[in-house]
Amino acid sequence: MRNIKNRVVLVTGASTGIGLALARQLQRSNFRTVITARKSSLVRFSKEGLTEADNFLIRPLNVTDFESQKPVIDEIEAAWGGVDVLVNNAGISFRSVVEHMTPEDEMEQLRVNYFGPMHLTRLVLPSMRKKRRGHIINVSSVGGMMAMPTMGSYSASKFALEGASEALWYEMRSWGINVSLVAPGFIHSNSFTNVRFTERSHDALSNQSSPYYYYYQHMSRMIAKMMNGAWATPDNIAARIIKVMNQDKPPLRIPATIDAWVFHILRRILPRYVYHHLLYRCLPHIQKWVDDDKNKL
Ligand SMILES: NC(=O)c1ccc[n+]([C@@H]2O[C@H](COP(=O)([O-])OP(=O)(O)OC[C@H]3O[C@@H](n4cnc5c(N)ncnc54)[C@H](OP(=O)(O)O)[C@@H]3O)[C@@H](O)[C@H]2O)c1
Repeated sequence: MRNIKNRVVLVTGASTGIGLALARQLQRSNFRTVITARKSSLVRFSKEGLTEADNFLIRPLNVTDFESQKPVIDEIEAAWGGVDVLVNNAGISFRSVVEHMTPEDEMEQLRVNYFGPMHLTRLVLPSMRKKRRGHIINVSSVGGMMAMPTMGSYSASKFALEGASEALWYEMRSWGINVSLVAPGFIHSNSFTNVRFTERSHDALSNQSSPYYYYYQHMSRMIAKMMNGAWATPDNIAARIIKVMNQDKPPLRIPATIDAWVFHILRRILPRYVYHHLLYRCLPHIQKWVDDDKNKL
């Protein structure tokens, strides 16, 4: 294994969930670490007992504010010679059927989950290419390998991230730069409470006369149940990300939970039409979603 001591790691969206767990584990490691969060969320670090030290910096970084990213990267280059491992972890998720999204909602979803990570990646690549080493780790999702009702826009953003990461893997291979997609499935955490609703999806959630009422009710219940019952925790995913950082030849795709592995394999072995029909039948109470006579939960 390569000597990884003193490599410089930059993590986005470290104020909660997986990012926070990763920040805690990196603080105890040999890596030189820069954890970042939106300015308004920085206060959480001191509450969580995370404070700056020689090898551990905390900086504000909103992934949708492209102008603010360069000063952070410039500072790291001046202080530590550049970022060696970029972990694009920050992410948001809209809960909305396609019909209830607006172009602005779609843009917001893509800005955080796709445009932001891509911009940050472009900023760190020149120094990585100069050193002929580096690692881009993009936190994807099972939603990046399959789509579910009420999560179309989230999946679109993660599919985009997966597509660009795959292209980048080819582009960077000759430069000695690795690209990895870590894809968690359901995680035992409160992250589903951070889910965003659009104006129309929020209304439909509590309006029984909405044609989509039962979509939101059943999907929200199922997701909450799966997350509450999941074995994997943000700590497990953070440990998996650190393991990937330490690999000499990290793979491009890393399903990071058991359900992620199951879907990863099913997508590969089942013909698509079989897969889609199977998944459709597994949706909770799917036969009642649009049947007015039986529309009782
Ligand atoms: N939890 C799951 O079950 C799950 C499953 C699969 C994949 N993932 C992926 O894992 C990653 C982490 O998710 P999580 O579960 O840890 O969710 P989380 O607890 O909601 O954390 C998301 C993080 O992203 C940050 N963030 C949001 N918008 C940002 C912006 N514009 N600029 C910078 N930071 C921003 C949030 O900061 P604020 O506190 O400031 O909002 C927060 O720290 C995401 O990419 C997510 O898609 C999660």
